[in-house]
Amino acid sequence: MKKGILALIALAFAACQPEGHFVSSPDGAIQVQVDLGATGALEYAVRFDGEELVEKSKLGFDFANAEDLLEGFKVKTIDVQKVEENYTMQWGANETVKAESNEMTVRVVQTETGRELGIIFRVSNDGYAFRYDIPAMEEGELIVANERSEFNLASDAMAHWIPGDWEIYEHPVNHTRISEINALSKANHPNLAATHIVENSVSTPVTFVFDSGTHMSIHEAALVNYSGMTLKKTGETSFVSSLVGRADGNKATIPTPFKTPWRMAVIGDEATDLLASHFMYDLNEPNVMGDITDWFKPQKYVGIWWEMHMGKSTWDYGMTQDMGTWIADGKEHGKHGATNENTMRYIDFAAEHGFSGVLVEGWNTGWEHWIGFDDREGVFDFVTPYPDYDLVMLQDYAKSKGVSLVMHHETSAAPRTYDQQMDTAYALMKSNDIHLVKSGYVGPLLPKGEFHHGQWMVNHYNNAVQRAFEYEVAVNTHEPIKGTGLERTWPNWVAREGARGQEFNAWSIEGGNFVDHLPSMAFTRFLSGPMDYTPGVFKLETKSGPEGENRVRSTIGQQFGLYVVVPSPIQMACDLPENYQAHLDWLQFIKDVAVDWETSIPLAGEVGQFVAWARTPKENQNWYLGAVNAEQERTLNIDLDFLEERVTYTAEIYRDADDAHWESNPYAVTIETKTFKKGDVFKIRLASGGGFGAIFNKNVE
Ligand code: NOJ
Ligand code: CA
Repeated sequence: MKKGILALIALAFAACQPEGHFVSSPDGAIQVQVDLGATGALEYAVRFDGEELVEKSKLGFDFANAEDLLEGFKVKTIDVQKVEENYTMQWGANETVKAESNEMTVRVVQTETGRELGIIFRVSNDGYAFRYDIPAMEEGELIVANERSEFNLASDAMAHWIPGDWEIYEHPVNHTRISEINALSKANHPNLAATHIVENSVSTPVTFVFDSGTHMSIHEAALVNYSGMTLKKTGETSFVSSLVGRADGNKATIPTPFKTPWRMAVIGDEATDLLASHFMYDLNEPNVMGDITDWFKPQKYVGIWWEMHMGKSTWDYGMTQDMGTWIADGKEHGKHGATNENTMRYIDFAAEHGFSGVLVEGWNTGWEHWIGFDDREGVFDFVTPYPDYDLVMLQDYAKSKGVSLVMHHETSAAPRTYDQQMDTAYALMKSNDIHLVKSGYVGPLLPKGEFHHGQWMVNHYNNAVQRAFEYEVAVNTHEPIKGTGLERTWPNWVAREGARGQEFNAWSIEGGNFVDHLPSMAFTRFLSGPMDYTPGVFKLETKSGPEGENRVRSTIGQQFGLYVVVPSPIQMACDLPENYQAHLDWLQFIKDVAVDWETSIPLAGEVGQFVAWARTPKENQNWYLGAVNAEQERTLNIDLDFLEERVTYTAEIYRDADDAHWESNPYAVTIETKTFKKGDVFKIRLASGGGFGAIFNKNVE
């Protein structure tokens, strides 16, 4: 890993000017202006190609144990430097990244109190960011009553948002004007075991499309020892940072000196500019763990999972608990999914079709008491299997076939219990050569008064990942804190959920995720890093859910497209083995698609409507193309200018048949082979709710 080089260059445009201080992107398109307002408040504004996107917006803090840092400032120093860095990622969309930005650090001093505050602005060609640099304070620790970073958007852009829920991100994506955002109308969704929406705020990433066509997505980077940021509406088109809270009404306790997470926005002319950005990763610290590829490999996996969500089998076994001990008392109901026999069936299937992992949920005692209870501490220990599950035997069996179990730790949102058990649980994994865990935090957070997205839990999630590394364990967190690019620093944080996943298609009251769900997440949630969406359903009518009529609202073509569109170094093939056995021709795409990318190119898309990507993996020089579409059918004409010169490619295309439609004809798939070369146009129709996956195999001449 090449360390960052910070070159000190005084930039002429940032010189002290009476009307403000300016820092621009290296290409000059994005300009941030910083100023002191009439009351001595710090203000910033942002322009993109001359268009004002963010009007004067104030910055500062309310503290509970110290005077506020909101106004009465004068500028003390301004430093400007160029930040250039080349770095590599061990997995992800692009192996090598070149980061370039201009940085301006403004230090202000409060005239009356003499207290200082620093703000560091970074502007790159694809966005701007700022973070507070709080010096050592006489109070030692500061109690943040709230951070007050304003984002006063210049016009009533279209907003693509989910509510600023303190407990969960598993909401459908809404599409309204900024002025029409109504987060409180999303409170108490019956499918969410925990949900807490206290005000009219949105979670990040939140994506805006201005009438001029400019796209901007606001998010945060490097969320460490601080609460997650939501954006609270303060006026027609204005927001202020509103941190996730805790029982005493305050938002965070920070040591001093302290640097906050970065507040960032990715900006571009096109929706695809948002996808091409690596700015979030640029803002994170370099990898501190070294090479993990010896024990973690990007992979596709199957698992005992979908059958529980559809109600075919259960996580629990039917045991009773007596004084903390689980007893099999003959009341087992016989529907337990994680049995030796069933696990071996999945292992056999994985081995036969080249999947690396088999996730088994419901393998350990405690599931009789995991959801809907207040007393969830001490229920799971993460090491005691049910009587019909032999972990060691099964992992030996899996390994003998070139497969590994994927561990599952459902904490039922009792993280103190997990903290106590974590080392033992990870040690058990290591001793059995299991290197990937899916963790989960379903339910209202314990202790009461803390929330999934607050500082206390941010520290728990971050700590779990760092401790897992000590045992060579990679983590896929469900019901997580949102991604903020920390996987650059801690590459064993390989994926997370943090959005409405495939599981909602099995049981949500809406009958499944909406047709626009994936093309919406593509430009919102997916900007924050890998998602364990768990694609690959081949039997779309699940006939589950409250009315027994739930289904996956997509074509089969879209299920293929997800393997290229959804960012993640771990991709599940989530359907039941028997549903794959019935369509081995379709399964071939999931078997052949890569997961470990060298380069990724967003090809086309519009927020909430469709998206198409091309990616080339590390293992060969083929290209993998995929797209997903919302309701409106469309035809894409994809310029194949990324292919190599003077070579032909034989493309295996798995697409919607000409009469496919997610509702009336979702299984209509056409598999065809065609030859292409650089410069050709690949014309492909996406059905309503459709998509495609294609493998462009490079021909060796
Ligand atoms: C919610 C997770 O998202 C899901 O994948 C898992 O099966 C259940 N919790 C049980 O842990
Ligand atoms: Ca979930």
